[in-house]
Order: sequence, then structure tokens, then C-alpha cells
Amino acid sequence: PLVTTGELVTRAAADRSAVAAFNVITLEHIEAVVAGAESAGSPVVLQVSENAVKFRYGRLLPLARAAVAAGERAEVPVALHLDHVQSDDLLRQAPAAGFSSVMYDAARLPYLDNLAATKAAADWAHAQGLWIEAELGRLGGKNGEPPLDAHAPGARTDPAEAHAFVADSGVDALAVAIGSAHAMTTRTATLDHTLLKRLSAALDVPLVLHGSSGVPDGELTEAVVGGIAKVNVGTALNLAMTTAIREFLAAHPDAVDSRTYLSVGREAMVRAVARIITLLTGTP
Ligand code: G3H
Ligand code: ZN
Repeated sequence: PLVTTGELVTRAAADRSAVAAFNVITLEHIEAVVAGAESAGSPVVLQVSENAVKFRYGRLLPLARAAVAAGERAEVPVALHLDHVQSDDLLRQAPAAGFSSVMYDAARLPYLDNLAATKAAADWAHAQGLWIEAELGRLGGKNGEPPLDAHAPGARTDPAEAHAFVADSGVDALAVAIGSAHAMTTRTATLDHTLLKRLSAALDVPLVLHGSSGVPDGELTEAVVGGIAKVNVGTALNLAMTTAIREFLAAHPDAVDSRTYLSVGREAMVRAVARIITLLTGTP
């Protein structure tokens, strides 16, 4: 059934666990995330990013309707989240499209501009009954930009600034920059666990890890212990899907029916989803 992101993240934070949130681009991603969560027996967040909407010719509804239908019929609780929203027009489509939550991304802006834009988005979101996540500090790696190195300005979230940002904006959760980067295809990120503990102590909202595809298993589980309650995963699914399809097509150069390779790609994503959820929840 469909549930809200707020309830899944709140429960995960109370249990010192984390809910996995997977970025979906195609119908195969949606089906794989639901099937993987069902096989792991745990709730999951299906998230659609603004970039995914751009890929879908700028239209949110076709993918959103598929996600709603998949979530309604799922054997585990499924929440729908609109991810990395920069456009106010897209933000305003969230409630009618079935999303219970949004991540409003103004982290590219200077602090005061980020705060003002995020506060306006949070006020609007709360009036609509939406749960809202924002980001302070920059991860890099989006839209082909390189990951930021640890000493680049904003590459780490400052705990005192984060405390003020959450208090002044009113957001329900905060994405923090602690060493991960978007779009990594190797699992080689090293997280700053000392900083995470300071952030967790300074903030009374759940913390979100972005760019989790590049984070090794042990680092991820340590981050959950340290206070991460929502783990965003995108690239790992694309890596699983594309690798499986590439191998299938190399072995079957005469394949024509798209179902032959899409099913192989989808099953690879099911396995990746189940593995990550099981890692985060500690259940087999
Ligand atoms: O918001 C989405 C995530 O941060 C995904 O990052 O593609 O590097 O796993 P990733
Ligand atoms: Zn992200």
C-alpha cells in the first residue's frame, strides 16, 4: 500500500534504522524497486528526480501514475518522493501527482538564498501536508560535474549552520554533505563519521545521505548507526541494469524483443534493491 515518506523516515529514525529511497527513471525501475522491497520484506521510498522528469519529456504524470499504481498494489509499504526539485512549477505538481514528500534543492545557492528559497518551499509544502527535505552543503557529481573534494567550500555541512538552517526554514529532514558524491560508479567514498555524529547531535530532524551508490557497505551501516535515516540510491540501479543488459546483448547479438534484455536488466535491479534494503534494515 501507499504510505507517506514522513512516517517511514520517522519510524526508521526512531529505530536507529534507515529507509532506502531509490530513484526511478523507467517502469522497469519502478517494478524492480517494489519487487526488491517485497523480497526483502521492508518498506521503501520510490523517488522521482527533477532530472528524471526532464528525461520523460518534462512530464511528471506518466511516471508518477505508474509509481502510484505500483505502490498501491505492493505487498510492502511504499512512499512516493519527488527528489532534487529546483523548479517551483514541478514542486507545485507534487501533491496532485501522488507524492507525500519532496526534496527541495537550493543547495547550489549562497546560504541566505538557500535558506529563503527553502523556507518558502517548506511553508508551501506544509500547507499542502507534504513532508519536505532540503540540503545544506554540496555533494557535487550532479549533471556530470565532478565530486567536490573535502576542502572545497560547502563540501561539508557545518553543524552550527545546519542547526540554524533547520530551525529557520522549518524543514522536516536534512540532506548533509559528509563525504559522499552523486553518480559514483565505484564504491569508494569515505564518510566523515565524526562530522555525522556532530550533525546528529546538533539537529533534531532525521538526516539523509545522498549519493549512496558510491558508499561501501560498512560505511553505510556505520552511517545509519550515526544518524542517517534515509539513504538515497540512484546510480547503483543504473549500474546493475546497464551491466546486465550489456552482457546479455553481447551474448545475444541477434536479440530483438526488448523484453528479453529489459527483463534481465530489471532482475539485476531487483537483486540490487533487495541487497541494499537488507543491508540497511539488518533483516535477511
Ligand atoms: O537523490 C538521489 C541520490 O542522491 C542518488 O545518488 O545516484 O549517486 O546513488 P546516486
Ligand atoms: Zn541526491
